[in-house]
Amino acid sequence: MTDTARDQEPTQQVEAARKAFEQEFERFARFIGDSADKAGLNLDQAVAEERALAELRIRHLGKKSPLAAAKKLIGRVAPEQRASFGQLVQSTEAAFILQLEQAEQNIKKSIEAQRTARESIDVTLPGRRPRLGHRHPITLLRERIEDIFVALGYAIEDDREIETDFYNFDALNIPLNHPARAPQDTFYTTEGFALRSQTSTVQIHAMQRRGVPIRMIAPGRVFRRDTPDPTHNPMFFQVEGLCVDRGITMAHLKGTVGEFLRRMFGADTVTRFRPSYFPFTEPSAEFDFSCFKCKGSGCRICKHSGWIELGGSGMVHPNVLHAVGADPTEYSGFAFGLGIDRMAALMYGLDDIRLLFENDVRFLEKFE
Ligand code: FA5
Repeated sequence: MTDTARDQEPTQQVEAARKAFEQEFERFARFIGDSADKAGLNLDQAVAEERALAELRIRHLGKKSPLAAAKKLIGRVAPEQRASFGQLVQSTEAAFILQLEQAEQNIKKSIEAQRTARESIDVTLPGRRPRLGHRHPITLLRERIEDIFVALGYAIEDDREIETDFYNFDALNIPLNHPARAPQDTFYTTEGFALRSQTSTVQIHAMQRRGVPIRMIAPGRVFRRDTPDPTHNPMFFQVEGLCVDRGITMAHLKGTVGEFLRRMFGADTVTRFRPSYFPFTEPSAEFDFSCFKCKGSGCRICKHSGWIELGGSGMVHPNVLHAVGADPTEYSGFAFGLGIDRMAALMYGLDDIRLLFENDVRFLEKFE
């Protein structure tokens, strides 16, 4: 109780409490009676008013309110005034409660009505059809490739996209400062890790994991610091193939790649090998296949050469076998790798492989 309150007559204290209440309550009076619905509050405002009213209730009816202080005086006033003073306090309290409850109820009603209106569902509205997703063209092609190799007895390997130099280069017979690192420059992190620039890394992981003999393909995402253009992306997909066993020769490589391409592009597809160089294969060869569109006579797809270049291949270099603890005098093998994006561009007649990752739904929908 404040000093002024203590100095006042008890009845004056109650009167002061009533005045203070009425002054503060004035702005909530509009919620009482018929005017209640016309208060025109939106939901947020109504919620704020409800809170303000709850605070007002505490200030005027709570334990520390002037009215609570007046109640304590009931026992202390002169006995002949006690009954009437007690009644004054009680009727004042009852009047506060009545007004507060009416206003509270009406605000609550307004809040509930607005919430119900907001959450109500018009069952006559047509529903929104969920858009069905479908597989990406790269996935479709990867699955076709996987099906062919699984039928030929190959396992499918999946591996990490973040690599150490050892797997991306050293174990593949590309030592530090070797010029073959340059065209496969990739994205490095500070911890000595880099995004893999070729799926050939999986050759090493797979042989370390499974040992030899082995027959596997490894489709996956690779990264290079290539400037995007119609035939280059800094992120693209490759599929790696590896077969290591006793007595594997170049003839097995040619037979396998030839069979894969016939199953992929038709029984009359012809495969051609050209000498090339990859540090992890010796000898190495790039392979082309006869154009599936013009069958070799020359067209726009094969740039009028009759041939389409597809990937690199060769006999696994003895140093690679050494790197995984396999004995190159006992085992030999072949490996090949090709780019899935460029293959998809050929098959689906795309002029630009960048379309594959622009995520334009109008383009992707064509592959349902
Ligand atoms: C390699 O990456 C070798 N690892 C392939 C290999 C595997 C050889 C096993 C021998 C044995 P190359 O750098 O040529 O080779 O890339 C292979 C294919 O990836 C290319 O033929 C091409 O189709 C695709 N490619 C390369 N760079 C890009 C690029 N920036 N965007 C899209 N596709 C690309």
